[in-house]
Amino acid sequence: DQYFTSTMTLAQMGISTVPESYILPPADRPTLELTPPSSFSALPLIDLSSLENPVRQSQVIEQVQVACKEFGGFQVINHGIHVSLTDEALDVAEDFFEMPNDAKMRLASTNVHEPVRYGTSVNQVKDKVQYWRDFIKHYSNPISTWIDLWPSEPPTYKKKMGNYAKAVLLLHTKLMQIIFKSLGLRSDYLQNDVEQGSQVLAVNCYPACPEPKLALGLPRHSDYGLLTIILQNQEGLEVMGNDEKWQPVPVINEALVVQLGDQMEVLSNGRYKSIVHRATLNSEKKRLSIASLHSLAINKKIAPAPDLVDEGHPSSYKEGSFEDFLKFLSDNDILEGRYIDTLK
Ligand code: SIN
Ligand code: FE2
Repeated sequence: DQYFTSTMTLAQMGISTVPESYILPPADRPTLELTPPSSFSALPLIDLSSLENPVRQSQVIEQVQVACKEFGGFQVINHGIHVSLTDEALDVAEDFFEMPNDAKMRLASTNVHEPVRYGTSVNQVKDKVQYWRDFIKHYSNPISTWIDLWPSEPPTYKKKMGNYAKAVLLLHTKLMQIIFKSLGLRSDYLQNDVEQGSQVLAVNCYPACPEPKLALGLPRHSDYGLLTIILQNQEGLEVMGNDEKWQPVPVINEALVVQLGDQMEVLSNGRYKSIVHRATLNSEKKRLSIASLHSLAINKKIAPAPDLVDEGHPSSYKEGSFEDFLKFLSDNDILEGRYIDTLK
């Protein structure tokens, strides 16, 4: 049975309290009271324009190394994706979620293996608490294999989301080259596997929530893949710092958020750690985010890079694939544990 009530529907009903199924246990509720000082940034901001310059390229690699080691992510500007592509992707995402229910429900599925699916919460079959989020997820690489299955409404969805998907895939390849260099590996390490890897676009909608202190859009988790590149239209994403405190990630004009996932932690043999994050809500305005999740191909197992394993750094992870993660997701409530912990 794929019937569910979307959070867009709940928001449009004009309810003044959230249904009980969305209310988190007190320990998992967001804090939301702290407004960070304006100079504060949860993640380092890296300007990729310096990559063109051979002298300054090494500075970028160093910045990336520090960001990956100490924060598990960063924001990038001058990343090469034109603002018209990001604007159009966010616009068509908004148009998608504003469509009447019937048009969206045609793509509804609770099967996490479905290559294109519309849904709500995280895994509504397993979630003990529901999350205030609707999403459309679709496989995106190679785009020619998948795009016919993408939403055919709004009519411009495939074109606008497709243009952004292609651009962000190229950015992912470029970022992986820098990250490999920052680990002391060749920049073309695993190049074919990265280029032919899996890309899932998770287009998220978090409607204004009547009780944002009691619910979350997404609970604490790390992503399963190599990198996740996030485009967002307003604040709501929070990352957990080394001090175990939640830090809001500011929206910086024309910047994209880059987060390290579990496969990156495994590949780096623990030199870099995947970043724990969550999505908070607000009572004023709907938030949209487009997360591009990159990993090796679905059945491809990942292991620590041989050059990063030695006597001082024994291999500390078991092999795992995107497929293994999907099995984990379909069997578990997301709050009960992280996939990476099953690989240690
Ligand atoms: C995600 O966790 O994949 C998306 C977070 C966000 O909405 O910014
Ligand atoms: Fe995530």
